[in-house]
Amino acid sequence: MNRGAQRCLLHRQPFIRRVLEFSRMKTFLLNMRFLLGRVYFRYRGIFRAGMTFPTYSEKMQRMIGWSNDRVRHATMALALERIRSESIPGAIAELGVYRGYVSRFLHEQMPERKLYLFDTFDGFRDNADNHFRNTSVEIVKERLRNLDNVEFRIGLFPDTAKGLEHETFSFVLFDADKYDVAMASFAFFYPRLSHGGYFFLHDFNSNESDWGVSKAARDFLRGKPESIVEIPDICGTALFRKI
Ligand SMILES: C[S@@+](CC[C@H](N)C(=O)[O-])C[C@H]1O[C@@H](n2cnc3c(N)ncnc32)[C@H](O)[C@@H]1O
Repeated sequence: MNRGAQRCLLHRQPFIRRVLEFSRMKTFLLNMRFLLGRVYFRYRGIFRAGMTFPTYSEKMQRMIGWSNDRVRHATMALALERIRSESIPGAIAELGVYRGYVSRFLHEQMPERKLYLFDTFDGFRDNADNHFRNTSVEIVKERLRNLDNVEFRIGLFPDTAKGLEHETFSFVLFDADKYDVAMASFAFFYPRLSHGGYFFLHDFNSNESDWGVSKAARDFLRGKPESIVEIPDICGTALFRKI
């Protein structure tokens, strides 16, 4: 090699080293990306708020992400969206409202449907059980903000269902814990639930009130064509659809 060629190679060496370093760094970064991708895929249930292709809106997806029980809220959102897509007629009812956390969620998704809110708004009126007393109609109204189509039924169910004998329902959420109230809710809502309508039972798989909700569901649905579907949410919801 003549002197000129040697000088030229020496001159190029730092450049070649840089190219090699860059390609090594690139390989390292690509490997890291691959590894992180695999970790994310394996543990994405921890990071993700919900479904990849939900039927409900982005707004509901965000509300589900911020909720205290994503499985429960996502299940209700899917049900409401199905009611919409299958054009199942009828109002929405929540029996056991407390401070209106779920009422707000239901009304945000379906503001066009009538929403009946049944509660004493004063907790259980039972000397043995004084839970849920720290609420009021005003607290729930403030939480809902949009009060169009909302009707408060204040007092003890089933007395508060009087006057609604001709109403039809597409979605009922029972969240009042007790066996006798659950039986009364079946007696009132079941005949008025549209075909394909949803009946949600909160605390079905829960020892609250001595399994009152699951006992009532078992007693009421005996001999009926509907079957219970259990949901793996925090308080053990179950549901059935009216046939
Ligand atoms: C568990 S809390 C409801 C929680 C609410 N659904 C939520 O997710 O935030 C139970 C509610 O049922 C109400 N309740 C129980 N028995 C009732 C009855 N017979 N009539 C009306 N409300 C009743 C209580 O006042 C209480 O507010």
